[in-house]
Amino acid sequence: MIAIGSDHGGFELKAKIIEFLKEKNVEVKDYGCYNTDSIDYPDVAKDVCQAVVKNECERGILVCGTGIGISIAANKVRGIRAALCHSSFDAKMCRMHNDANVLCLGGRTTGPEIALEIVNSYLSASFEGGRHAKRVEKIMSLED
Ligand code: RB5
Repeated sequence: MIAIGSDHGGFELKAKIIEFLKEKNVEVKDYGCYNTDSIDYPDVAKDVCQAVVKNECERGILVCGTGIGISIAANKVRGIRAALCHSSFDAKMCRMHNDANVLCLGGRTTGPEIALEIVNSYLSASFEGGRHAKRVEKIMSLED
């Protein structure tokens, strides 16, 4: 199950991602927003990230206008490694090297075709472990 959420700046792209995931038979839980009314992205980041850290959802996808605010907010949640991606390469590497458990996108900065390629790469790639495991552990120890 993938947890997904956006603010108004990411609403349209979120809808496209949900459609894409459903076509691929990937289960998705939508944490809002549900229209283009202005909302505060940290609220949605919190809900999606909590679903991930509680293991209710394997991974999260968050979208705001630029992806910046929502990724900053997500990375404040203990246990979250959120990566703002602008390319399929970013998405692949954030899984392989950083074990990112939340993907962030900018609805106003990344076109829908590239965004869906990014989502596909993110969901297809796996953490490599090995030397990267130690580094990810060091990232997580910064929470202490
Ligand atoms: C909302 O206008 C906008 O600030 C938000 O979507 C995001 O881009 C923040 O980083």
